Formats: sequence, structure tokens, C-alpha cells
Amino acid sequence: MNEILKVIKERSSTRGYTAEKLTEAELGALIDAGLQAPTAANRQEIHFSVIDGEDPILAEIQQEMLAGRGGSTAPAHNFYYEAPVVIILSGNAAFSWSAVDAGIAVENIALAAEGLGLGNVILGCIKDAMAGAKKEHFAKSLGFPEGYEYKVAIAIGHKATTKEPHEYDAAKNVTRV
Ligand SMILES: Cc1cc2nc3c(=O)[nH]c(=O)nc-3n(C[C@H](O)[C@H](O)[C@H](O)COP(=O)(O)O)c2cc1C
Repeated sequence: MNEILKVIKERSSTRGYTAEKLTEAELGALIDAGLQAPTAANRQEIHFSVIDGEDPILAEIQQEMLAGRGGSTAPAHNFYYEAPVVIILSGNAAFSWSAVDAGIAVENIALAAEGLGLGNVILGCIKDAMAGAKKEHFAKSLGFPEGYEYKVAIAIGHKATTKEPHEYDAAKNVTRV
């Protein structure tokens, strides 16, 4: 099968990681994949904040997310499943295509990770935490450019767990006109 189609077919979300770090070459390839994504009008207004899994800013985001949910029972995993790397994508808040641009870029990273044999999971669950009372603090700590806001994130690392790709119903979701 065509290599790209194979990677698309085999990608699935990983929700358990080993402690093994990514190499600089792997990290560089993932960042390039994000930067190579197409953007509307080629504005390239997506920013990539690359964060070590042990950076305290991630624990702060986790705390904010839990506080927003009532902070009751501690979940079995943090929001990024203890992955060694998280990339947070931010985009120009004033540009109407930035959510689409970020979505395309994050999928480029996900497919690049799958192609390198790395696990990954796209993360939307911190959306409210990133837009709440600590919005400016998080934006500054993560190096968002002026006027940018959180769009989406992705955790990446070596797989400790695997799952089958999701099933889908083409008859329901596709119309061939
Ligand atoms: C925009 C978006 C946000 C997501 N947010 C989360 C998340 O916060 N936590 C999580 O575990 N998975 C998250 N996912 C992963 C989806 O749950 C997953 O892609 C879906 O269940 C299909 O499974 P698969 O990726 O294994 O094929 C997100 C996926 C997308 C596209």
C-alpha cells in the first residue's frame, strides 16, 4: 500500500507512554511536519510551543483543567498521559481560519509521529483551562506571539499501550453526489 495511505490507516490515539525521551532528530522532524502544513492564504500564523513532559507548566495547566471541572476525583492519567513531549499550537485569535490551520498542522504532526513509529494523541481537553483566568499567564509562559490563543495540542512519545484505529461508517458520513 502507498506509504502515506498506510500511515493514515494505521494511526490511532495512544493513551499510555514509556519514559523514553524523543531524540532531537525525531523532535525536529515533528516540528518540521507542523511547519510544512498548508495555511489559509499562506499566512503561517500557527505557533508551536514544544514542552518537555516534566515541565511544571503542564502540571499547572492540569491543575487549572481539574479546577474547572470541580477538581473532585484525581484521574488515572494527566491530560497528556504522561507523554515525554507535548506540543501546544496557538494561532492568531483575529484570523477566522486559524482553527482550521491548527487542525491541519496538528494532524501533520500526528501522521509524522505515526510514520516514525511514535505514539500520539491530539488534545482538546485543556481548551477551557487555556481560555480561563490564567489565559495570559499561560500564553506568556508558553511563548505565544502577541494576539495568539490556544487552538489545540498533541502529546507524543513511545507507545506503552496500543489500540486499533477507530471504526467508521462511510454509508452514514459520505454522499457521492
Ligand atoms: C480536536 C480533537 C481533540 C481531541 N481531544 C482529546 C483529548 O483531550 N483527550 C484524548 O484522550 N483524546 C482526544 N482526542 C482523540 C480522539 O478521542 C480520537 O481521535 C478519537 O476517539 C478516534 O480515535 P483514534 O484517534 O484512536 O482513531 C481528540 C481528537 C481531536 C481530533
